[in-house]
Amino acid sequence: MKSKKNIVLIGMMGSGKSSIGKILSKKLNINFVDIDRKIEEVETINISDIFKKYGEEYFRNIEEKLSLKYLNSDSSVISLGGGGFINPSIRKFCKKRCLSFWLNWKNETIIKRIFRSKKRPLVMGLSENQINNLIRERSKIYELSDYKINCDKLDKAQIINKIIDIYENKKN
Ligand code: S3P
Repeated sequence: MKSKKNIVLIGMMGSGKSSIGKILSKKLNINFVDIDRKIEEVETINISDIFKKYGEEYFRNIEEKLSLKYLNSDSSVISLGGGGFINPSIRKFCKKRCLSFWLNWKNETIIKRIFRSKKRPLVMGLSENQINNLIRERSKIYELSDYKINCDKLDKAQIINKIIDIYENKKN
């Protein structure tokens, strides 16, 4: 069988890229790569500690290196970190070699999830208004993905089925 492009999941933190990616890859019987987990494996500390110890720029460099490494493969489901697609080199590679899906949610949904989590160093200490602005700015770039899935009215299974439907019917 001719190998297919990678499926890349993009979107804000809290958009379900990892949990959806895992189930999606099982259903398609293909490999799953979660870039945040790969970064943690290589660094042997968690993302929050990488931000705390070395800062964001350091994190973004490893994120770029590892994202490009794993994007350069075939037939995998890859969950990028929320900032991955914002990086022009990563984005260019996604556009060339992968099918990208933006898991889009209403801002309120994302903000609620972010506030519930203690593992989001980028937005720790930001106000609701500041997070809203971040989502607005990033959405202009997420909009450049191949497919936008509006998730609010769908359950997990429906989101996954939508992606599978597009992927399986796409000749590549
Ligand atoms: C980030 C999102 C996080 C992680 C890091 C930075 C971002 O990933 O990569 O904390 O810039 O939005 P998730 O989107 O998987 O939470």
